[in-house]
Amino acid sequence: MEIPIQFPTVPLSSGHNIPVLGLGMSHHGGYSHNALLYALRSCGIRHIDTAKRYGNEELVGKAVSESGVKREELWITTKLWPGDYGYDKATQACLDACKRLGVQYLDLYLMHWPDAHVPGKSSREARAETWKALEDLYYRGICRSIGVSNFLIHHLEQLKEDCSVVPHLNQVEYHPFQRPQELVNYCKRNNIVFGGYCPLAKGQALTHPLILRIAKQYGKTPAQICIRWSIQNGVVTIPKSTKESRIQENCQVFDFHLQHSDMMWISSLHSNKKLIHLTYPLWKG
Ligand SMILES: NC(=O)c1ccc[n+]([C@@H]2O[C@H](COP(=O)([O-])OP(=O)(O)OC[C@H]3O[C@@H](n4cnc5c(N)ncnc54)[C@H](OP(=O)(O)O)[C@@H]3O)[C@@H](O)[C@H]2O)c1
Repeated sequence: MEIPIQFPTVPLSSGHNIPVLGLGMSHHGGYSHNALLYALRSCGIRHIDTAKRYGNEELVGKAVSESGVKREELWITTKLWPGDYGYDKATQACLDACKRLGVQYLDLYLMHWPDAHVPGKSSREARAETWKALEDLYYRGICRSIGVSNFLIHHLEQLKEDCSVVPHLNQVEYHPFQRPQELVNYCKRNNIVFGGYCPLAKGQALTHPLILRIAKQYGKTPAQICIRWSIQNGVVTIPKSTKESRIQENCQVFDFHLQHSDMMWISSLHSNKKLIHLTYPLWKG
């Protein structure tokens, strides 16, 4: 096996360091065992982002074990689905996730979504109760870091009032058309690492004329420009691909630097376009 390069990491307030570039594993667009193996063995990927919702934790666990990469070299993030919110359900869901992934501990466990429908509880109460379960999993060492996803400033403020541990990371949609700067600034002020998902805007950013022009200027691909832009903005990023050549391409982003003016041009594409919307019935089960 080749020895792949080590990607830079970002420190979390838990004391652990998350690789700034990971591989997304969402169920949209399918799952490729060979692509994940290739990412681990040949591209230097050490950070995998999955979720119960994606339905592939068991497959990820299988690929990880087959890859031969040592557990301590890997960063595995998975997420708690709102159907499992509440103290006892969340605790059990985490243990089940570890079992599916074939691991003793998670590097990062995220509450997937802020809206919570637990009978007899407000959404805020349900979030707080669930977060307390994550805090206890963190204290027990089953989750080395804990965080949230899709949380807005008011959700984070409430959690701060209701709980003890400030989330170590907030994972939110982030790409050239969606740059929630106020939330990024809030997270920075509160020592919450900002994780960005859909860095390629699900492929939609790759045909934008400005991205194409900048890619040509740097002799890079549009995907590399988008990923580099996230990284230079200090955002932990997790592009997904099921294709080996694209994963390789998406990892070649540490040998160039976008100039300030180009960073600004890309940032100017922000139109508040959101690609991810979740409605209640979707996550009821
Ligand atoms: N926390 C949350 O609520 C949440 C929500 C959404 C996503 N996520 C996470 O974020 C990850 C990334 O988001 P995403 O998968 O929705 O979107 P994305 O990474 O922005 O885009 C993925 C799409 O781009 C294509 N692609 C990848 N690399 C490419 C390249 N170099 N050239 C051309 N096309 C390329 C992929 O197709 P191929 O597979 O065919 O290459 C796929 O269709 C997810 O996988 C998931 O882990 C989290």
